[in-house]
Amino acid sequence: MEDSKPIIKIGDKGPIVIKGGATIVYPDGREELREGTVALCRCGLSANKPFCDGTHKECDTW
Ligand code: FES
Repeated sequence: MEDSKPIIKIGDKGPIVIKGGATIVYPDGREELREGTVALCRCGLSANKPFCDGTHKECDTW
């Protein structure tokens, strides 16, 4: 039996990684379904929030 629950991985640094897809609900109520792996920014530096764009690699305050 396949487990369809997403897996959420949080490392020491970098994004929150969701494996198994997610529905993103924006403040205006708009919903966006993302399949597969989703990386959410938690450093606050991404130019593509709420998604990670790799800018966290330049962050030296972790
Ligand atoms: S966690 Fe990757 S850009 Fe913020």
